[in-house]
Amino acid sequence: MTTSQINLVKNSWRLLRDLPPELVADTFYSKLFFDHPELRRMFPKQMDEQYKKLIDMLSAMVARLDNIGSLEQEITDMAKRHVGYGVLPKHYAMVGSALLWTLEKGLGSDWNEETAAAWAACYGIIAGKMLAA
Ligand code: HEM
Repeated sequence: MTTSQINLVKNSWRLLRDLPPELVADTFYSKLFFDHPELRRMFPKQMDEQYKKLIDMLSAMVARLDNIGSLEQEITDMAKRHVGYGVLPKHYAMVGSALLWTLEKGLGSDWNEETAAAWAACYGIIAGKMLAA
């Protein structure tokens, strides 16, 4: 990612944080399960905890984007846990598009092609590292 892409991700994430986090997470999972209902059964019935984990993990990653190496171990550990959850490589693209869709809806007029490309690069790096692990 370029420095300007990192800044775009950070700034747009900050804007999104003005929305209630559970609303952002709810939108994300609703979109994911609407498009791919077969994924629903992998997740707990009660999603409250999951909402918080998703937002916290994204915040942590966005905060450390300029030092992605410091995330390496965390990403590797997370990838291994995901194999245990039954996550398959093909699921990463599904999650990626639900995430970008959610960001687009949440950011409204602050969303543009550059921001989309920056987020796609950001997700691509993290998902790529998870897949490689
Ligand atoms: C960059 C991509 C992803 C990130 C950052 C991420 C993040 C997380 C985090 C932080 C957790 C909490 C538990 C833990 O840390 O192990 C989690 C759990 C989980 N994730 Fe992901 N995830 C990603 C991709 C995916 C994909 C592609 C799927 C496939 C559908 C998925 C399905 C799940 C499931 C099923 C759980 C466990 C739910 C539970 O039983 O509590 N994740 N994820």
